[in-house]
Amino acid sequence: MTGADLGPFPLGLPAASGLYLSLYAGTLALHLVLMSYVLAGSGYVAAASLLGARERDPAARALVDWLPFGLGTAITAGVAPLLFVQILYKESFYTANLLLFHRWMAIVPVLIAGFYLLYLSKSERAQGWPRLARAGVAGGAFACFLFTAWSWTGNHLLALEPDRWAPLYVTSATPAPTVEMLLRLALWAAAAVPWMAAILAWQLRAQALREPGREHDRAVTRVSTVALVSLAATAGLAALYAGHLDPAGREAISGPLAGPYLRALQLGLAVQAAAWLRIRIGRHWSRSALFFVTAGAVVTVLGAVVVRESVRLSRIDLGPLAGAHARIAEAGGMAGFFVFLLIASAVITWCALATRRALHARASAASTEGSGAGSGAGSGAGSDAGSDAGSDAEGGSDAAVNDGSASPDAEPTQPL
Ligand code: HEM
Repeated sequence: MTGADLGPFPLGLPAASGLYLSLYAGTLALHLVLMSYVLAGSGYVAAASLLGARERDPAARALVDWLPFGLGTAITAGVAPLLFVQILYKESFYTANLLLFHRWMAIVPVLIAGFYLLYLSKSERAQGWPRLARAGVAGGAFACFLFTAWSWTGNHLLALEPDRWAPLYVTSATPAPTVEMLLRLALWAAAAVPWMAAILAWQLRAQALREPGREHDRAVTRVSTVALVSLAATAGLAALYAGHLDPAGREAISGPLAGPYLRALQLGLAVQAAAWLRIRIGRHWSRSALFFVTAGAVVTVLGAVVVRESVRLSRIDLGPLAGAHARIAEAGGMAGFFVFLLIASAVITWCALATRRALHARASAASTEGSGAGSGAGSGAGSDAGSDAGSDAEGGSDAAVNDGSASPDAEPTQPL
């Protein structure tokens, strides 16, 4: 029972396997988006630091601020798919872990080093350092995350190549990188950029509404160009990777199991490209275009995880595993799992909303203080009225800064 024999994901799979694979795919999608923010974001900061553009680029500044938090969320979001992948593919996953042993375990200290480098990069002390030293810190963090991505890719592929296991075990050699591994890593690195840009764009839009100016106009152009170029690179590398697959893998990605997801993925890429183009041409963070960017990115990542899984299912026989999945599903605890999933989701949502409210309150207090200091009591009343009007505009349609119906340099007319 391999890729080509299976029906549409997840309904064409044995019930328990379909359930665990869906949970795995959903949680992995979240991990991939968050790790993209870290991988591509740290790469962006390293490049901006090297070019000496970090201070005047709002995108680099926002990333420096948010990357430590982003890394925390990416790692946390890796835990759930890690649990599901062990249920799904116990033997192959553990065998690859054991064969990679030191290299595999190195992920933990490397990620700790990456965490500290992100904090060092953000610290006041590092602000006074020469450009090359700061680029070194930012580049070091990026190298840590690239190494982590490389390790996950190497582990994934080794798990799918049982013919390599015995020779590697006998010789205790470190597996040499294969062409497939390099292509795959390049594909993840390219795909990470538009997913990172989709999150970053919302952060920059919020900043542009607070503090509009030429710096932000340039950031719109720069980030949308980076997103467009990386979307083209992703499409090119995905085609190359698909061409590199064996016939069974190609059949699995275009057949009944994953064919609809492949088409959804392609549509998602096209929607993102069209929306980024609109942002690039309009040179402003159009809210409606950003919704399309986000929707396209979500469809792309969900399509990508299913297509990715169909390749694994073309190489691993699901038949013998399905029995184990069914036994695990009967072991009980499913109701408890869903209850805790609900509680954890509610708590996380509450934390996010509370933080958002607190940030809004701080931003409003700062802007009230600023306008009070700048032009006295009269302008304070004016700004209150302005904010009320702005709230209405935000609720209705894209407002001035977003749709370019006013000058991008105009004063903000709305709270976030
Ligand atoms: C910034 C750090 C990280 C980066 C850049 C990263 C990157 C990646 C990449 C590129 C993949 C896809 C591999 C492939 O399909 O070729 C992946 C998969 C995965 N990652 Fe991460 N990862 C990070 C941290 C973590 C951590 C800390 C965990 C666990 C707690 C984790 C759990 C997973 C799991 C379970 C998979 C799927 C593995 C499989 O199906 O074979 N990741 N990660």
